[in-house]
Amino acid sequence: MSAVDRFRAFVVERTAGGLDRRVRELGPGDLPPGDVLVRVEWSSVNYKDGLAAQPDGRVARISPLVPGIDLAGTVVESAAPSIPSGSAVLAHGYELGVSHHGGYAEYARLPADWVVPLPAGLTTREAMAIGTAGYTAAMAIVALEARGLAPGAGPVLVTGASGGLGRHAVAILAGRGYEVWAATGKPEEADRLRGLGAAGILTRAEVSAPSERPLESGRWAGAIDAVGGPTLPYILRTLRPGAAVAACGNAGGAAFTTTVYPFILRGVALLGMDSANVPIAERRALWARLATDLRPPRLDEAVTEVGLDELADVLDAIVAGAARGRWVVRLG
Ligand SMILES: NC(=O)c1ccc[n+]([C@@H]2O[C@H](COP(=O)([O-])OP(=O)(O)OC[C@H]3O[C@@H](n4cnc5c(N)ncnc54)[C@H](OP(=O)(O)O)[C@@H]3O)[C@@H](O)[C@H]2O)c1
Repeated sequence: MSAVDRFRAFVVERTAGGLDRRVRELGPGDLPPGDVLVRVEWSSVNYKDGLAAQPDGRVARISPLVPGIDLAGTVVESAAPSIPSGSAVLAHGYELGVSHHGGYAEYARLPADWVVPLPAGLTTREAMAIGTAGYTAAMAIVALEARGLAPGAGPVLVTGASGGLGRHAVAILAGRGYEVWAATGKPEEADRLRGLGAAGILTRAEVSAPSERPLESGRWAGAIDAVGGPTLPYILRTLRPGAAVAACGNAGGAAFTTTVYPFILRGVALLGMDSANVPIAERRALWARLATDLRPPRLDEAVTEVGLDELADVLDAIVAGAARGRWVVRLG
């Protein structure tokens, strides 16, 4: 028997006419199987959540679905000795919010090996201010550094810089002493990005203009790309010899055209980031760093709080490119 009775959840369900998206009451029997029942305190809004709530988003694998690809809260029932009842935890990725009910509910049931004990130094709200976006930004920085990027190596470009992933990437890189350049489609965000430590601002048009030239002057010592289709060709032809781009997102589109020349004449690398499938031990280790040396500076300034009743509008806004930092979702 469960201690939990009825609770609120934002549910997306396919219907003959499109999608039914609204807050409903669920019970524990509506949750998928798992070792750990979490009382969710905070979730967040990621671009993928926006897609999960669009009729043509191609993210949701079940219907009805409780979206929310990340969550943080307190364990209230556990069959896993490693994650005891009462512990503060977070979870993201794997099937969460895609084919397994996610964070937009007051309760979530999960396999224990999807769960990250909340690292010391982070509250559950801070963990979701970081969320999947901040985790992926940190993952990209670790991958670039593993390939040799270091502060002082030269300018590092971040695209989609006003969004969740981009904002965290700018803040963490600047905090580590990098010369960060932020590319954004929102000129009004330039001052805020400079305040985070960006050394310079590029417009979205500058980093997505097509070119006939397979290579241009090698400018970037590294890059983190949240936009995809329109920007990756620009980045590849402007990376310095031996540099790498961490390809994280597709907010601007998925398809892109490039040539082999950046790879065979400059030895550049295209590093793919897939935060959803990182093995749990590696995931827990990176979260420990997100609470310490990779913690995004000025985390509180990144955050806008919303409740379940406001989610439908916010999910549409993120897909429309309106993100400014992170939306965190208050539950319970
Ligand atoms: N690989 C992974 O594991 C992983 C993990 C997390 C996120 N992602 C992906 O990374 C991307 C960013 O995620 P996020 O949660 O940070 O999203 P977000 O908050 O919405 O940020 C995306 C940003 O991209 C920029 N953008 C450029 N062209 C756009 C367009 N045509 N439509 C919408 N936005 C556009 C906008 O910033 P500016 O106005 O500043 O240009 C926007 O704010 C998404 O594609 C997401 O799916 C991937």
